[in-house]
Amino acid sequence: MKNQHRKRIPQAFCAIGLATAVTLAAGVQPAVAESSAPDLAPMPDVKPGNAAMIELGKHFFFDRRLSGDWGVSCATCHDPAKGWSDGQALSTGYPSMEYFRNAPTVLNARHRQRFLWDGRLDGTDAGTLVRDMITETHTMNMDGRLMQERLKQVPEYDALWKKWRNDDINGMRVFNVIGEFIRSLETTNAPFDKFAKGDANAISAEAQAGYALFKGKAGCVACHNGPIGSDGKLHRTGVPENPEVLANPVRTITMLRHYATSGMPNYMNARTDVGAYAITKNPADTGKFQTAQLRDLKYTAPYMHNGVLATLDEVVAFYNKGGGEGSVLKPLNLSDKEQKALVAFLLTLSGDPVIVKDPGQPEMQVRTFGKN
Ligand code: HEC
Ligand code: HEC
Repeated sequence: MKNQHRKRIPQAFCAIGLATAVTLAAGVQPAVAESSAPDLAPMPDVKPGNAAMIELGKHFFFDRRLSGDWGVSCATCHDPAKGWSDGQALSTGYPSMEYFRNAPTVLNARHRQRFLWDGRLDGTDAGTLVRDMITETHTMNMDGRLMQERLKQVPEYDALWKKWRNDDINGMRVFNVIGEFIRSLETTNAPFDKFAKGDANAISAEAQAGYALFKGKAGCVACHNGPIGSDGKLHRTGVPENPEVLANPVRTITMLRHYATSGMPNYMNARTDVGAYAITKNPADTGKFQTAQLRDLKYTAPYMHNGVLATLDEVVAFYNKGGGEGSVLKPLNLSDKEQKALVAFLLTLSGDPVIVKDPGQPEMQVRTFGKN
């Protein structure tokens, strides 16, 4: 995906491609060459995953027994009825904890180059992301071995597992199985995709004007490109702090704990979300976050890493004034009409609601040695 726009570059421009790669390696943002101008792209055709793994992963996604206290499943924070997010500005987190960032959607995980707001995990490795969600204290607070033993005590899971492979339920594989499930959840039927594939009437004239602004005067496309509208890179747009993080000591502690476990120097003095700096320890990365995807925004308000912007109108107004403190953005001077057109366009990137029914929690049973 990250090379999506390069595929269209004719041979003659390969040298530019190379130069870009070299500048990137040096950590410098290249000026975008006209010929390789990035653009949004329609969602690629769905690649069917492993059906047996997806079926198992669906069950595990909804099962609260995967959390330490038996109370939280993935679906608690990534609820299909709320765009696979939780509808809150800041995630509630594991019982007794409260998190300091927003819970993003899991839709289009397959197309993410990096995972998490600060981009700290590789998007091609969903298993590791799932492991962290399950074992981190602030999300599911579960021990991998305990999880494995609990799942082995569910005969229905044992039977489903045996349809996939002839061995016992195994912790590491459980992470990959849930990863395979979330990688099967994709935006489908979005009006923009029909438009991009040639149906000129699939989006309104207002939305088309918004698309022109998106690629032109408003400059959104520099960072929001490819099929899900993200370059997978880190940028500082100066999103304001959510005051609730400091007002609520439980949230402040979760933030400082995240810094401590990341090995961030002098973390006890931090009172803001430093973003990627906690991971890279490079002061230049302070306040940088990964470009958010723009798919299914219709279902996933509020917006940004801390949910501080409640609506898409607020998001566009934020960009119109050149972002917040320390931002790399410039004011856009868009009229009210132009701002509305941008919002109308953003909404065309949302598809049909992706609804998967909670399959329920099958009964547990004491194990019979050698049988389950
Ligand atoms: C208690 C709430 C909670 C639970 C339970 C939870 N998550 Fe999350 N999830 C979050 C939060 C908050 C983030 C963002 C964390 C950050 O960026 O610092 C996140 C991030 C993610 C992302 C990254 C999305 C992206 O585009 O970067 C994926 C995928 C994900 N979770 C999947 C899962 C799966 C699968 C499970 C179950 C194994 C799960 N989550 C359980 C709250 C939760
Ligand atoms: C310099 C790169 C850059 C440019 C240019 C840019 N964005 Fe963003 N965008 C980001 C980053 C980074 C985030 C995540 C910021 C955060 O959470 O702190 C983001 C977040 C968003 C979100 C929130 C999505 C969500 O799920 O929370 C929307 C919507 C958005 N941008 C729309 C736009 C629009 C519209 C434009 C043009 C007016 C634009 N962006 C220009 C980098 C950029």
